[in-house]
Amino acid sequence: MNNEFQNLKEQCLGCTKCELCGKRHNVVFGTGNENAKIMFVGEGPGEQEDLQGEPFVGKSGQLLDKYLSLIDLDRKENIYIANIVKCRPPMNRDPKPEEQDICIEYLRQQVKLIKPRIIVCLGRIAAQKLISPDFRVTTQHGEFTEKGGILFMGTFHPSALLRQESNKPLALSDFQALRNKIREEELL
Ligand code: URA
Repeated sequence: MNNEFQNLKEQCLGCTKCELCGKRHNVVFGTGNENAKIMFVGEGPGEQEDLQGEPFVGKSGQLLDKYLSLIDLDRKENIYIANIVKCRPPMNRDPKPEEQDICIEYLRQQVKLIKPRIIVCLGRIAAQKLISPDFRVTTQHGEFTEKGGILFMGTFHPSALLRQESNKPLALSDFQALRNKIREEELL
């Protein structure tokens, strides 16, 4: 891990800028390859992530890993995974706008250091924060939008897919579109 990234991580692990710090077991900073060309961004840690300190390690993470492996991506090797907020919101509620606004500064710094070409937003919260405030996953999933030299794509949150399995084929087609984009851009 390079120095700047390590410093950022240490700063984030000690963060007390919002009330979410009060009940956390761990700050979930992010995981993966810091030189990855592809990043995935979720909403915020759930129970398992809070306990283990890693993003997407619960049931939704298992589903995410399955989709990743279908397109030859691996969370340790060629992607980086982070969240909009780094501490678990109580009872898995949506992170409040003010919590997102405070915490997104860490994500901005992560993106600045990692320099991904593609960011995949997992679910509404991430897509509305990073792509557009009126982003609708049901109608805009799988579309690529370029902003500041980064291609953004929003897709279904894995937890939403566990609740509504009928959307799984749509999510799969988003991952296939991602694979095509990765090839087109010669990122791997
Ligand atoms: N849901 C998220 O949005 N992020 C995680 O890390 C885990 C579950």
